[in-house]
Amino acid sequence: MWIFGWKGPSGFSARSTAEEVTEGIDATGLTAIVTGATSGIGVDTTRVLALRGAHVVMAVRNVEAGKKLKESILNEIPSAKIDVMQLELSSMASVRKFASEYIASCLPLNILINNAGIMAPPFSLSPDGIELQFATNHVGHFLLTHLLLDTMKKTARESNREGRIVLVSSDGHKFAYNEGIRLDKINNEAEYNCYRAYGQSKVANILHAKELARRLKEEGVNITANSLHPGEIATNLARNNGLLNGNIYAHQCLDSIKLSMLRRVIQGAATQLYVALHPQVKGVSGEFFKDSNLSKPGTAPAQDEELAKQLWDFSMKMIKKQ
Ligand SMILES: NC(=O)c1ccc[n+]([C@@H]2O[C@H](COP(=O)([O-])OP(=O)(O)OC[C@H]3O[C@@H](n4cnc5c(N)ncnc54)[C@H](OP(=O)(O)O)[C@@H]3O)[C@@H](O)[C@H]2O)c1
Repeated sequence: MWIFGWKGPSGFSARSTAEEVTEGIDATGLTAIVTGATSGIGVDTTRVLALRGAHVVMAVRNVEAGKKLKESILNEIPSAKIDVMQLELSSMASVRKFASEYIASCLPLNILINNAGIMAPPFSLSPDGIELQFATNHVGHFLLTHLLLDTMKKTARESNREGRIVLVSSDGHKFAYNEGIRLDKINNEAEYNCYRAYGQSKVANILHAKELARRLKEEGVNITANSLHPGEIATNLARNNGLLNGNIYAHQCLDSIKLSMLRRVIQGAATQLYVALHPQVKGVSGEFFKDSNLSKPGTAPAQDEELAKQLWDFSMKMIKKQ
């Protein structure tokens, strides 16, 4: 139980904050992209990366919100190096535009934190005709990572510093359909269950990191790829259901009890910053983290190497179609 704050082998616990897990780490000279940096966990991820000296590129769909957040971080940390760039993950055209602008900027890239996500909306299709959670949480990040990988490889080579790709998954992967990922039924509206589809997209994050890590190791590239569960954090993620939506009067009382059980955002950003920056994680790749400690995914499909390979091929076909 997170409130007891038992420390794991890393010396950190579910109560550790993003500042605590990065204390003493100098990220000067590192460049990081954070997707979904305008809300929730992404906000503190950006702030603490900047606090430690990294140059942060906020990849956001709402540029105005991104600029406001940049200003507020600059008020707190005048030396912060932050850029804001537009990225709509549910649209492959937007992801391609972002990647080509990033590459054209000639910025290096040491750290990619694929953090953005949506949870449990009613069924709909992305502009590319893919179920929206799978499109946003997995396919958009898969394409983004694919397009930025050469930049990351070049940066790792030239800087002689390990590159790190961080996939923000969820313990919600346990609620996925029994098969983990229904590769043959991604767009099946009749059998759509919003929570199971969220779980499916989060299994995809775990398997994406696993297969990417395997490929990077095989290639001998100095880049790691890991996934994680950030904890149960009070953010806007539940905007599509009644859990934290105080507008539904009948749920208000229950919601405030649940809310008090959730962790704060400064704790929610801890695990991804631990995985992105901490020296203890050097050379660790293809793993799953929780509470700033090494952990294991909770279901067989989320550990299935064969499914990871199938997902890779399936995703490659998807991104090549558009
Ligand atoms: N909070 C939790 O308890 C919890 C638990 C497990 C896992 N997670 C994971 O943690 C990550 C961050 O979630 P959060 O809790 O911080 O949620 P949040 O407060 O809702 O933030 C999500 C971020 O993703 C962005 N986003 C959503 N759809 C996008 C799209 N199509 N293109 C670009 N950006 C998009 C949002 O942008 P806008 O601001 O423009 O909407 C927002 O910045 C997610 O991957 C989530 O699955 C969270």
